[in-house]
Amino acid sequence: MLEEKLEFLRGPGGLRAAGYFGLKLLTRIEVFRIVWILAQSNTLLVLPSGWRYLSFHTDEALSAVSNDMRERLAEQCGSSPKQLFGRGGSLHLLLTGNTLVAQLSIKRGPSCRIDSPPLHLGMAETDAFLGYLYTWPAYRRQGAAKYLIAATVNDLATQNINRVIAHIRATNVPSLAAFKHAGWRTGATILCTLNGHLLMAPGATRAGLTLRSGM
Ligand SMILES: CC(C)(COP(=O)(O)OP(=O)(O)OC[C@H]1O[C@@H](n2cnc3c(N)ncnc32)[C@H](O)[C@@H]1OP(=O)(O)O)[C@@H](O)C(=O)NCCC(=O)NCCS
Repeated sequence: MLEEKLEFLRGPGGLRAAGYFGLKLLTRIEVFRIVWILAQSNTLLVLPSGWRYLSFHTDEALSAVSNDMRERLAEQCGSSPKQLFGRGGSLHLLLTGNTLVAQLSIKRGPSCRIDSPPLHLGMAETDAFLGYLYTWPAYRRQGAAKYLIAATVNDLATQNINRVIAHIRATNVPSLAAFKHAGWRTGATILCTLNGHLLMAPGATRAGLTLRSGM
């Protein structure tokens, strides 16, 4: 356990993350990074053998997958898939055979609710918000998040989306690294209290985003 913690601290971004943990303990303030990438559909993406990418935009389309898989993916997508689709959102999956490798949800502009912290995000009509990125534990560190994010951005570019936005806890080293390696830019920062009250969002206005507290 101690060895694991030391490895984390020594790894890239480990000390900075430890600083944010300290800040959170002392001040009860949490920091999130807002990152984005411009969507392009011309990126050639070759998935590892046996992996396939699927996107779902309606509950009818999702009914083609097994009940078992629907239940598993609902565990990691915040609201139910039906609610997500009802608000114009979509689900993006990486599978091997009939097993879930990784998943994420997309909400489209011009506004959406972020569940954690509980905020309303205002963005452009042609922006999309990526949330609930999750690689199932057996498939971590095999590039699943990297492939799924890239495939989703390609897919969204064909659907009139110009920019994809995400937010990441400043202490979430794996996720920060995954987005950075995939070429995403850090554009703004969210500071909020532990119960989700927004304190400030430096850089948000310049990025064409508005944020306000509330469910
Ligand atoms: C964050 C998460 C999605 C990464 O998924 P993953 O499929 O393991 O990521 P990838 O294999 O595509 O990794 C891509 C890059 O991210 C970085 N990365 C991934 N896991 C990492 C870790 N544990 N520590 C440090 N860097 C890590 C690496 O730079 C990696 O590239 P490399 O393996 O070539 O060095 C996964 O750990 C997860 O589901 N965590 C729990 C949920 C979560 O935190 N979601 C993100 C919310 S924003």
